[in-house]
Amino acid sequence: VNPQIESKSKSFPFLSRLRCLFSRLAQRLGWQRLALALSSQEVPPWQRMPPVWKHLTQVPSMVSAEEMQMLYWVARDCYTGVGTIVDGGPFLGGSTGPLCLGLQDNRRASGKAGVVHSYDLFLYDNIFYGPFFQAMGEELAEGDSFLHLYERLMNPFQDALQVHAGDFCVLPYEAGPIEILFVDLAKSWELNAAVVSKFFRHLIPGKSLVIHQDYLHFGEFWLVITMWFYRNYFKYLGRVDQGNSVLFAYTRKIPDELLEVDLKALPLEEKKAAFEDALKRFAGWQRTELLVGYARMFLEEKDEESAEAVVRRIPPEAVNHPISQASLQWIPKAMLPSIGQHSAVAA
Ligand SMILES: C[S@@+](CC[C@H](N)C(=O)[O-])C[C@H]1O[C@@H](n2cnc3c(N)ncnc32)[C@H](O)[C@@H]1O
Repeated sequence: VNPQIESKSKSFPFLSRLRCLFSRLAQRLGWQRLALALSSQEVPPWQRMPPVWKHLTQVPSMVSAEEMQMLYWVARDCYTGVGTIVDGGPFLGGSTGPLCLGLQDNRRASGKAGVVHSYDLFLYDNIFYGPFFQAMGEELAEGDSFLHLYERLMNPFQDALQVHAGDFCVLPYEAGPIEILFVDLAKSWELNAAVVSKFFRHLIPGKSLVIHQDYLHFGEFWLVITMWFYRNYFKYLGRVDQGNSVLFAYTRKIPDELLEVDLKALPLEEKKAAFEDALKRFAGWQRTELLVGYARMFLEEKDEESAEAVVRRIPPEAVNHPISQASLQWIPKAMLPSIGQHSAVAA
C-alpha cells in the first residue's frame, strides 16, 4: 500500500471507499489486469517476481525463464476460476509446472482440482529432444513414450492436473470453457487447425487469455496468419522479452462457421496482409523472426521472387544476432546475400 494514499484514506473516508471499490474490481479482473499493467509502460509484472524456475529445477524446459515467470503470473494473478487452464504441448512440464504453481498460489480461484488440462503426444519423435532426456539421466529410443517421465515430474501437481496423451489432431477437448489457453503444439497447419477448431470455440469472450508460445518463431508462421484472421475477436496484449511467447485477450465470440475456415487456403493477399500488420508491432530480432517466417510462407507458396524480396528487408545486423543466425539457416543459401539490400533496391 502506498503510504501516501493510506494516510489520505484515513482522513478522507471517500478515498478509502474508492480504494476498497478498486481492489474489489481488481479481484474480478482476468486478463484486464495484464492489460492494465502493460499499458502503464512499466516492466511486465512477471519480471518483478522472484524466479519461479528455482522451484522447478528438476524439470527440463524448452520455454525461457521469463516465459515460466509469465505463465506463473497468469495462473496466479489473471486466472479467476471460471474455466480451465489448458497447457497445449507441455513436453516434460516446463509450462505445466509454472501454471500449476501459479494456480496453487492463486488466492481468488476456489476449486482447483483438475483445473489444468495438458495435451501432448508424449513421444520421443524429434532428435532435438535427446539432450532434455540426457539431462535427466534417461536413455530413450526414438518412438518411445515419455509420458511416465512427465507424470513423475508433475507428481507434486497431480491434484490440479488432468493429462491427455495422444495426437491432438485426433484427441477431443471436452473440459468446458477455457480461461487460460497456452499453445505450444501448433507445429503444423493441421495442428493449428485443431487448436482453432477444438480450443478456440471454448474460449470465454471478455475473459480468456491466449498465449501463443511460437508466435515469434519463424517456423510456425501460420500463427501470424491465424491471429490476423481472427483479429476482430482478439486484442494483442504483449510479449515476453526472452522467448517467443505473445499474449492475446479473447474479446468477442468467434462465429462457429469461422472456426472451420481452412486458413492454409486463404488467398495470398490475406497472408501478406497478416505479416505486414504484425511487422508494425515488432522490432529487433522479433521482427527478423517475423520476416523469416514471412519468407518461408512465400516459399511454401512456391513464390521465390516474393520470398527474396522479404529477405531483402531483413536488416544486415541480423546476421550477427544469435537468435536470427539460427533462423536464417532456414532461408535458401542463394538468397542470403540479399539480406539488407532493401534500401539499395528502393533507391
Ligand atoms: C516445443 S515442445 C513444448 C515445450 C514445453 N511447453 C515446455 O515448456 O518445455 C512441443 C510439444 O508439442 C508436442 N506435440 C507435437 N506434435 C503433437 C501432436 N500431434 N499432438 C500432441 N502434441 C504434440 C510435442 O510432443 C512436444 O512436447
